[in-house]
Amino acid sequence: MLEFTRDQRLAYANLVSGGEQLGVWRYAKAFPIDEGTPRVTLGEGGTPLVRSVFIGKSRKFKALHLKNEGQNPTGSFKDRGMTVAVTRALEAGASTLICASTGNTSASLAAYAARAGLRAVVLLPAGRVAPGKLIQAAAHGAKILKLDGDFERALEIVREVAAADDRIYLVNSINPYRVEGQKTAAFEIYEQLGRRVPDYVVLPVGNAGNISAVWKGFEELREWGITKKLPVMVGVQASGAAPIVEAITKRGDSIEAWPEPSTVASAIRIGNPASWKKAVKAIRKSRGPAISVEDGAIMKARDALASKEGIFLEPASAAPVAALPHLHDLIRPDDIVVCIGTGSGLKDPETVELDPNAVPQVNDASSLAGVLSRGT
Ligand code: F0G
Repeated sequence: MLEFTRDQRLAYANLVSGGEQLGVWRYAKAFPIDEGTPRVTLGEGGTPLVRSVFIGKSRKFKALHLKNEGQNPTGSFKDRGMTVAVTRALEAGASTLICASTGNTSASLAAYAARAGLRAVVLLPAGRVAPGKLIQAAAHGAKILKLDGDFERALEIVREVAAADDRIYLVNSINPYRVEGQKTAAFEIYEQLGRRVPDYVVLPVGNAGNISAVWKGFEELREWGITKKLPVMVGVQASGAAPIVEAITKRGDSIEAWPEPSTVASAIRIGNPASWKKAVKAIRKSRGPAISVEDGAIMKARDALASKEGIFLEPASAAPVAALPHLHDLIRPDDIVVCIGTGSGLKDPETVELDPNAVPQVNDASSLAGVLSRGT
């Protein structure tokens, strides 16, 4: 049984005073948003923390958990930050929301802009965004623009345009309100573990906003006096796009941009992450490693999550599970480990091998029975 002091109980009651239900706005007190401000919300957060039934056992981790962020309204963790940022945009009198994106931010922006009645503009690196994400942005009515260049260049351009006009509101993860919303993943994990801080939190790193946000959440739990413990943060990148892993490994104070990042995990195909400083600081302060994983390992992890755990994630989101074999020397079998599954597999279905012509056809009960009796 965990026991809490009176101060801890009071601080906790204050933190969760925003609502009974698990979700981003339960922690409204932790956001720099006026209480009376109308919220632009689709019911984000409150995603399942699922204990692993297969992967944990096979890796000899007794308490491996998966936080399924694919269950957010638009299918990724971006909604946690978007609800707070778009609420702030309305408060600030913006008329247009804008972002550069590898796909998920644009899908989320588009949905929340629709909800808020704001214009949505998204700038995407041409040919590099998973079709499912593009379709989401289109369905929600965003103005989609493509760029002959990479994500970093797109971000430079939208930053410049937003800086020149107060009515254009930038919602990339450098926006501090995005970080505020995304930090609630830490609060939820703490609550879902029965008010415990995990030993390790493993998550994919792209533009490096999320790892900084989740770390901020755990640091705030400590600052509020709710807990004393902090987790070790493990940042995972694809081996073809791993500037943060390189920076951590070299122990320097700078980062070298990777000019041509390449990975099947298109969400994290980023060679020059905007929030690298904060991410490196979070990883170092938590005494965590940064790990790069090959595309083949990412796809194997994605398949194992889908076929053995029942959790279908997009490739980038499976990278933490792909990193587990590298963590054996660090993690003890009883440690509580949380892998954050950042986005749904439905966004990037083309990465699943399926030949429609190879699907067996049955047109009556006896042929179905015949197939079933073969046991395959
Ligand atoms: N996982 C998914 C599914 C993502 O879409 C992203 C980032 C990340 C992980 C990495 O998070 O950038 O905060 O380190 N996607 C951004 C986008 C870049 O535009 O949708 P990060």
